[in-house]
Amino acid sequence: MANTALVTGASSGFGLEFARLLARDGYDLVLVARNKEKLVRLKKRIEHYFKVKVYVLAQDLSEEDAVNKVREFTEKEGLEIEILINNAGFGDYGPFALSDYQKQTEMIDLNVRALTQLTHAYLMSMITRGSGRILNVASIASFEPGPMMSVYYATKAYVLSFSQAISRELKGTGVTCTALCPGPTDTGFAKLAEIPDSRMSEAFRMYKPRDVAREGYRGMMKGKTVVVPGAALKATATAAKVLPSKLVTEVVYHTQQSK
Ligand SMILES: NC(=O)c1ccc[n+]([C@@H]2O[C@H](COP(=O)([O-])OP(=O)(O)OC[C@H]3O[C@@H](n4cnc5c(N)ncnc54)[C@H](OP(=O)(O)O)[C@@H]3O)[C@@H](O)[C@H]2O)c1
Repeated sequence: MANTALVTGASSGFGLEFARLLARDGYDLVLVARNKEKLVRLKKRIEHYFKVKVYVLAQDLSEEDAVNKVREFTEKEGLEIEILINNAGFGDYGPFALSDYQKQTEMIDLNVRALTQLTHAYLMSMITRGSGRILNVASIASFEPGPMMSVYYATKAYVLSFSQAISRELKGTGVTCTALCPGPTDTGFAKLAEIPDSRMSEAFRMYKPRDVAREGYRGMMKGKTVVVPGAALKATATAAKVLPSKLVTEVVYHTQQSK
Protein backbone atom coordinates (compact mmCIF):
# COMPACT_ATOMS: atom_id res chain seq x y z
CA MET A 1 0.00 0.00 0.00
CA ALA A 2 1.23 3.50 -0.84
CA ASN A 3 2.06 5.47 2.27
CA THR A 4 3.24 8.82 1.00
CA ALA A 5 1.42 12.11 1.52
CA LEU A 6 2.02 15.29 -0.44
CA VAL A 7 1.32 18.59 1.33
CA THR A 8 1.46 21.96 -0.41
CA GLY A 9 2.14 25.09 1.62
CA ALA A 10 3.88 22.95 4.22
CA SER A 11 6.37 25.59 5.38
CA SER A 12 3.98 27.30 7.83
CA GLY A 13 0.44 27.54 9.24
CA PHE A 14 -1.99 24.71 8.53
CA GLY A 15 0.42 22.94 6.16
CA LEU A 16 3.03 22.51 8.87
CA GLU A 17 0.39 21.06 11.19
CA PHE A 18 -0.83 18.63 8.51
CA ALA A 19 2.76 17.48 8.02
CA ARG A 20 3.09 16.72 11.75
CA LEU A 21 -0.23 14.85 11.88
CA LEU A 22 0.69 12.73 8.86
CA ALA A 23 4.17 11.94 10.20
CA ARG A 24 2.67 10.89 13.53
CA ASP A 25 0.52 8.39 11.62
CA GLY A 26 3.58 7.02 9.80
CA TYR A 27 3.23 8.65 6.39
CA ASP A 28 6.32 9.54 4.39
CA LEU A 29 6.01 13.13 3.20
CA VAL A 30 6.55 15.28 0.17
CA LEU A 31 6.51 18.88 1.39
CA VAL A 32 6.11 21.66 -1.17
CA ALA A 33 6.38 25.43 -0.70
CA ARG A 34 8.68 28.21 -1.92
CA ASN A 35 10.86 28.64 1.17
CA LYS A 36 13.47 25.88 1.00
CA GLU A 37 15.14 26.77 4.32
CA LYS A 38 11.89 26.41 6.24
CA LEU A 39 11.12 23.12 4.48
CA VAL A 40 14.55 21.69 5.26
CA ARG A 41 14.22 22.73 8.92
CA LEU A 42 10.85 21.01 9.10
CA LYS A 43 12.20 17.89 7.38
CA LYS A 44 14.98 17.65 9.99
CA ARG A 45 12.55 18.08 12.88
CA ILE A 46 10.07 15.54 11.55
CA GLU A 47 12.71 12.93 10.69
CA HIS A 48 14.18 13.40 14.17
CA TYR A 49 10.89 12.74 15.96
CA PHE A 50 9.13 10.27 13.64
CA LYS A 51 10.25 7.20 11.69
CA VAL A 52 9.30 8.58 8.28
CA LYS A 53 11.12 9.86 5.22
CA VAL A 54 10.57 13.49 4.22
CA TYR A 55 11.20 14.84 0.72
CA VAL A 56 11.19 18.60 0.19
CA LEU A 57 10.56 20.49 -3.01
CA ALA A 58 10.97 24.26 -3.13
CA GLN A 59 8.55 25.30 -5.83
CA ASP A 60 6.38 28.30 -6.58
CA LEU A 61 3.10 26.58 -7.43
CA SER A 62 1.68 29.64 -9.17
CA GLU A 63 4.18 29.13 -12.02
CA GLU A 64 2.75 27.63 -15.17
CA ASP A 65 4.69 24.35 -15.27
CA ALA A 66 4.94 23.95 -11.47
CA VAL A 67 2.65 20.95 -11.18
CA ASN A 68 4.55 19.11 -13.93
CA LYS A 69 7.72 19.67 -11.90
CA VAL A 70 6.04 18.29 -8.77
CA ARG A 71 4.85 15.23 -10.68
CA GLU A 72 8.28 14.68 -12.24
CA PHE A 73 9.80 14.88 -8.76
CA THR A 74 7.50 12.25 -7.23
CA GLU A 75 7.92 9.98 -10.28
CA LYS A 76 11.71 10.28 -10.15
CA GLU A 77 11.65 9.33 -6.45
CA GLY A 78 9.29 6.42 -7.24
CA LEU A 79 6.59 7.71 -4.88
CA GLU A 80 2.92 6.79 -5.04
CA ILE A 81 0.82 9.52 -3.46
CA GLU A 82 -1.85 8.13 -1.13
CA ILE A 83 -2.82 11.46 0.42
CA LEU A 84 -2.82 14.83 -1.33
CA ILE A 85 -3.35 17.95 0.76
CA ASN A 86 -3.87 21.02 -1.42
CA ASN A 87 -3.28 23.64 1.23
CA ALA A 88 -1.06 26.38 -0.31
CA GLY A 89 -3.00 29.57 -0.87
CA PHE A 90 -3.11 33.27 -0.09
CA GLY A 91 -5.50 36.23 -0.06
CA ASP A 92 -5.36 39.94 -0.76
CA TYR A 93 -7.26 42.69 1.05
CA GLY A 94 -8.69 45.80 -0.61
CA PRO A 95 -11.11 46.94 -3.33
CA PHE A 96 -10.61 45.04 -6.59
CA ALA A 97 -10.30 48.22 -8.71
CA LEU A 98 -7.25 49.30 -6.71
CA SER A 99 -5.66 45.87 -6.50
CA ASP A 100 -2.39 44.74 -8.04
CA TYR A 101 -3.74 42.68 -10.94
CA GLN A 102 -0.63 40.50 -11.15
CA LYS A 103 -1.22 39.47 -7.54
CA GLN A 104 -4.83 38.51 -8.34
CA THR A 105 -3.76 36.27 -11.22
CA GLU A 106 -1.07 34.65 -9.07
CA MET A 107 -3.76 33.98 -6.48
CA ILE A 108 -6.01 32.33 -9.05
CA ASP A 109 -3.04 30.33 -10.35
CA LEU A 110 -2.20 29.07 -6.87
CA ASN A 111 -5.59 28.75 -5.15
CA VAL A 112 -7.42 27.37 -8.19
CA ARG A 113 -5.23 26.20 -11.08
CA ALA A 114 -2.45 24.45 -9.13
CA LEU A 115 -5.00 22.79 -6.82
CA THR A 116 -7.03 21.52 -9.78
CA GLN A 117 -3.97 20.37 -11.70
CA LEU A 118 -2.46 18.55 -8.70
CA THR A 119 -5.77 16.79 -8.08
CA HIS A 120 -5.84 15.68 -11.71
CA ALA A 121 -2.18 14.63 -11.61
CA TYR A 122 -2.64 12.17 -8.71
CA LEU A 123 -6.32 11.19 -8.81
CA MET A 124 -6.23 8.53 -11.53
CA SER A 125 -3.51 6.49 -9.85
CA MET A 126 -5.50 6.64 -6.58
CA ILE A 127 -8.60 5.37 -8.37
CA THR A 128 -6.61 2.59 -10.05
CA ARG A 129 -5.22 1.50 -6.66
CA GLY A 130 -8.67 1.81 -5.09
CA SER A 131 -7.44 4.00 -2.24
CA GLY A 132 -6.54 7.62 -1.61
CA ARG A 133 -7.50 10.78 0.21
CA ILE A 134 -7.59 14.36 -1.05
CA LEU A 135 -7.99 17.33 1.27
CA ASN A 136 -8.54 20.72 -0.34
CA VAL A 137 -8.24 23.72 1.95
CA ALA A 138 -11.18 25.97 1.14
CA SER A 139 -12.46 28.55 3.67
CA ILE A 140 -15.52 29.89 5.42
CA ALA A 141 -15.16 32.44 2.58
CA SER A 142 -16.29 29.66 0.22
CA PHE A 143 -19.89 30.20 1.34
CA GLU A 144 -20.27 33.92 0.59
CA PRO A 145 -19.22 36.71 -1.79
CA GLY A 146 -16.36 38.72 -0.25
CA PRO A 147 -16.29 42.44 -0.97
CA MET A 148 -12.79 43.79 -0.15
CA MET A 149 -11.33 40.32 -0.83
CA SER A 150 -13.38 39.51 -3.90
CA VAL A 151 -10.94 37.33 -5.84
CA TYR A 152 -9.89 35.38 -2.74
CA TYR A 153 -13.50 34.56 -1.77
CA ALA A 154 -14.25 33.56 -5.35
CA THR A 155 -11.23 31.21 -5.47
CA LYS A 156 -12.42 29.55 -2.27
CA ALA A 157 -15.98 29.20 -3.59
CA TYR A 158 -14.40 27.33 -6.51
CA VAL A 159 -12.43 25.04 -4.16
CA LEU A 160 -15.57 24.08 -2.24
CA SER A 161 -17.70 23.52 -5.35
CA PHE A 162 -14.97 21.54 -7.13
CA SER A 163 -14.30 19.36 -4.06
CA GLN A 164 -17.99 18.58 -3.50
CA ALA A 165 -18.41 17.59 -7.14
CA ILE A 166 -15.29 15.39 -7.18
CA SER A 167 -16.37 13.81 -3.91
CA ARG A 168 -19.62 12.66 -5.52
CA GLU A 169 -17.86 11.35 -8.61
CA LEU A 170 -15.52 9.31 -6.41
CA LYS A 171 -18.25 7.47 -4.49
CA GLY A 172 -17.47 3.75 -4.38
CA THR A 173 -13.89 4.09 -5.69
CA GLY A 174 -12.09 3.93 -2.33
CA VAL A 175 -10.88 7.50 -2.92
CA THR A 176 -12.38 10.50 -1.13
CA CYS A 177 -12.18 14.27 -1.50
CA THR A 178 -12.74 16.62 1.44
CA ALA A 179 -13.00 20.41 1.58
CA LEU A 180 -11.84 22.02 4.82
CA CYS A 181 -13.44 25.41 5.47
CA PRO A 182 -11.55 27.24 8.24
CA GLY A 183 -12.40 30.66 9.61
CA PRO A 184 -9.87 33.35 10.56
CA THR A 185 -6.91 31.52 12.13
CA ASP A 186 -3.63 32.72 13.57
CA THR A 187 -1.21 31.77 10.74
CA GLY A 188 0.85 33.84 8.28
CA PHE A 189 -2.31 34.37 6.20
CA ALA A 190 -3.60 37.75 7.49
CA LYS A 191 -0.22 39.45 7.23
CA LEU A 192 0.36 38.23 3.67
CA ALA A 193 -3.15 39.30 2.68
CA GLU A 194 -2.42 42.77 4.16
CA ILE A 195 -5.57 42.64 6.26
CA PRO A 196 -5.55 45.78 8.48
CA ASP A 197 -4.50 45.22 12.13
CA SER A 198 -7.81 46.55 13.38
CA ARG A 199 -9.65 43.76 11.51
CA MET A 200 -7.24 41.06 12.51
CA SER A 201 -6.74 41.13 16.23
CA GLU A 202 -9.92 39.58 17.64
CA ALA A 203 -11.04 37.46 14.71
CA PHE A 204 -7.67 35.90 14.01
CA ARG A 205 -7.15 34.79 17.59
CA MET A 206 -10.32 32.69 17.60
CA TYR A 207 -8.88 29.51 16.12
CA LYS A 208 -5.53 27.78 16.53
CA PRO A 209 -3.96 26.28 13.39
CA ARG A 210 -3.27 23.00 15.21
CA ASP A 211 -6.95 22.50 16.20
CA VAL A 212 -8.23 23.40 12.73
CA ALA A 213 -5.74 21.11 11.00
CA ARG A 214 -6.62 18.26 13.36
CA GLU A 215 -10.33 18.60 12.61
CA GLY A 216 -9.67 18.72 8.86
CA TYR A 217 -7.34 15.74 9.07
CA ARG A 218 -9.90 13.66 10.99
CA GLY A 219 -12.62 14.59 8.50
CA MET A 220 -10.38 13.67 5.57
CA MET A 221 -9.53 10.29 7.11
CA LYS A 222 -13.25 9.62 7.65
CA GLY A 223 -13.93 10.57 4.03
CA LYS A 224 -16.21 13.51 4.88
CA THR A 225 -17.04 15.82 1.99
CA VAL A 226 -17.04 19.15 3.87
CA VAL A 227 -15.48 20.02 7.23
CA VAL A 228 -16.37 23.33 8.87
CA PRO A 229 -14.45 23.49 12.14
CA GLY A 230 -16.29 24.85 15.20
CA ALA A 231 -19.93 25.53 16.08
CA ALA A 232 -19.76 29.28 15.36
CA LEU A 233 -18.42 28.70 11.87
CA LYS A 234 -21.00 26.02 11.16
CA ALA A 235 -23.69 28.56 12.08
CA THR A 236 -22.04 31.15 9.79
CA ALA A 237 -21.96 28.69 6.88
CA THR A 238 -25.61 27.77 7.42
CA ALA A 239 -26.66 31.43 7.64
CA ALA A 240 -24.79 32.21 4.43
CA LYS A 241 -26.71 29.42 2.67
CA VAL A 242 -30.19 30.38 3.87
CA LEU A 243 -30.08 34.21 3.97
CA PRO A 244 -30.53 36.29 0.79
CA SER A 245 -27.11 36.67 -0.84
CA LYS A 246 -27.60 40.46 -1.12
CA LEU A 247 -27.85 40.64 2.68
CA VAL A 248 -24.90 38.28 3.19
CA THR A 249 -22.75 40.36 0.82
CA GLU A 250 -23.69 43.53 2.70
CA VAL A 251 -22.80 41.97 6.07
CA VAL A 252 -19.42 40.74 4.75
CA TYR A 253 -18.71 44.17 3.24
CA HIS A 254 -19.32 45.91 6.58
CA THR A 255 -17.40 43.27 8.54
CA GLN A 256 -14.42 43.70 6.22
CA GLN A 257 -14.15 47.45 6.80
CA SER A 258 -11.24 48.43 9.03
CA LYS A 259 -12.26 50.41 12.11
N1 LIG B 1 -5.44 31.46 8.25
C1 LIG B 1 -6.66 31.74 7.90
O1 LIG B 1 -7.30 32.63 8.47
C2 LIG B 1 -7.32 30.93 6.81
C3 LIG B 1 -8.72 30.83 6.80
C4 LIG B 1 -9.32 30.07 5.79
C5 LIG B 1 -8.54 29.42 4.84
N2 LIG B 1 -7.19 29.56 4.88
C6 LIG B 1 -6.41 28.85 3.84
O2 LIG B 1 -5.47 28.00 4.47
C7 LIG B 1 -4.42 27.70 3.55
C8 LIG B 1 -3.10 27.77 4.27
O3 LIG B 1 -2.85 29.09 4.69
P1 LIG B 1 -2.35 29.44 6.16
O4 LIG B 1 -3.47 30.09 6.86
O5 LIG B 1 -1.70 28.28 6.79
O6 LIG B 1 -1.33 30.63 5.82
P2 LIG B 1 0.26 30.67 5.76
O7 LIG B 1 0.81 30.45 7.12
O8 LIG B 1 0.55 31.95 5.05
O9 LIG B 1 0.66 29.44 4.85
C9 LIG B 1 0.57 29.47 3.44
C10 LIG B 1 1.48 28.40 2.89
O10 LIG B 1 1.39 28.40 1.47
C11 LIG B 1 2.69 28.51 0.91
N3 LIG B 1 2.63 29.26 -0.34
C12 LIG B 1 2.22 30.54 -0.52
N4 LIG B 1 2.35 30.89 -1.80
C13 LIG B 1 2.87 29.81 -2.45
C14 LIG B 1 3.24 29.55 -3.79
N5 LIG B 1 3.12 30.50 -4.74
N6 LIG B 1 3.75 28.34 -4.11
C15 LIG B 1 3.88 27.39 -3.15
N7 LIG B 1 3.55 27.57 -1.87
C16 LIG B 1 3.05 28.77 -1.53
C17 LIG B 1 3.51 29.24 1.97
O11 LIG B 1 4.89 28.90 1.90
P3 LIG B 1 6.03 29.73 1.13
O12 LIG B 1 5.84 31.17 1.47
O13 LIG B 1 7.29 29.11 1.64
O14 LIG B 1 5.81 29.44 -0.32
C18 LIG B 1 2.94 28.63 3.24
O15 LIG B 1 3.56 27.39 3.52
C19 LIG B 1 -4.59 28.70 2.40
O16 LIG B 1 -5.14 28.04 1.29
C20 LIG B 1 -5.55 29.74 2.95
O17 LIG B 1 -6.31 30.35 1.95
C21 LIG B 1 -6.57 30.30 5.83
